[in-house]
Amino acid sequence: MKSIVILISGRGSNMRSIVEAGMPARIAAVISNQPSAGGLAYAAERGITTAVVDHKAFDSRAAFDEALAAEIDRFTPDLVVLAGFMRVLGEGFVRRYANRLLNIHPSLLPSFQGLHTHRRALEAGVKVHGCTVHFVTPALDHGPIVIQAAVPVLPGDDEDRLAARVLAEEHRIYPRAVQWFIEGRLDRKSTRL
Ligand code: GAR
Repeated sequence: MKSIVILISGRGSNMRSIVEAGMPARIAAVISNQPSAGGLAYAAERGITTAVVDHKAFDSRAAFDEALAAEIDRFTPDLVVLAGFMRVLGEGFVRRYANRLLNIHPSLLPSFQGLHTHRRALEAGVKVHGCTVHFVTPALDHGPIVIQAAVPVLPGDDEDRLAARVLAEEHRIYPRAVQWFIEGRLDRKSTRL
């Protein structure tokens, strides 16, 4: 059975949607860079191994990346899933997990890379917004797209309402993308590093 390590930084609702999808894979561990991440308690309650690699304990991004990779590699995962993981990962890290590193981003990439995507979508006046699951490459929020979901931007939307509408779609598409990976249905040769 394939095994998955999920990286989180916060509440972990995407991690939860993957765990609860009940796919034929082992969730080997949930690892957070934030000791206070709410998702850690949920994972522990489900009997999933949890770990923290606190980025604040490291002098450099390279040192953090190295420690994180060492922790991940203890579980020899087939797939590493970034689920609301809010640290930028260096090129060495990304190359180490090439073709087996997925991320979810709360916009229709290539629009609105980076942070505050919902606010920026509202400011731009777009009528359609959404979310993207993609393979991770060294360029931030840039890798080959696996699946996207679109939602309308409605009159009267504020950041929270729009975020909630997008999040519901994240919870629908991320388990699907992970399932495709597990089933060997993703053409990973398309990842150009
Ligand atoms: C999600 O909306 C995810 O798309 C976003 O953070 C949120 C995490 O929520 N990720 C990024 O912005 C990555 N750059 P969650 O912890 O409840 O899954």
